[in-house]
Amino acid sequence: MTSILILNGPNLNLLGTRQPEVYGQTTLADIQALCAETAKELGCDITFEQNNSEGALIDLIHAARETHDGIILNAGAYTHTSVALMDALASVELPCIELHLSNIHAREEFRHTSYISKVALGVICGFGAQGYPLAIRALHGHLG
Ligand code: DQA
Repeated sequence: MTSILILNGPNLNLLGTRQPEVYGQTTLADIQALCAETAKELGCDITFEQNNSEGALIDLIHAARETHDGIILNAGAYTHTSVALMDALASVELPCIELHLSNIHAREEFRHTSYISKVALGVICGFGAQGYPLAIRALHGHLG
């Protein structure tokens, strides 16, 4: 069975209360439930994780090499700063979809740069919580 790691970075544990005008009112637990529904429909396996630390996210990416077929990553603000996360993704050579709730290109200039995009299979942004099921479908389709 196809196995996908869904990895959420810093501050995404606060979804629902964090800047709802930007990120919506959906909590991370709601998003996890949405992902579980989509995975059940497609018949694939998902692991859903959130961590605020760059090193912990890197460790999860490394571990995924042995356990998962692909990664969906909302790296939060590390998207715009982390060469280390980019290198981790390049090292494990798993297909990765970069995901954002907001349209980062319509926001502040510093959010227009993404280190993750440089190694991602594709990018989904601006669709709020619905981006997660979209990303699962896209990655599942890619993995065949
Ligand atoms: C985000 C966009 C990032 O710029 C921001 O730092 C986040 C969330 C999003 O999902 O829209 O933490 O990744």
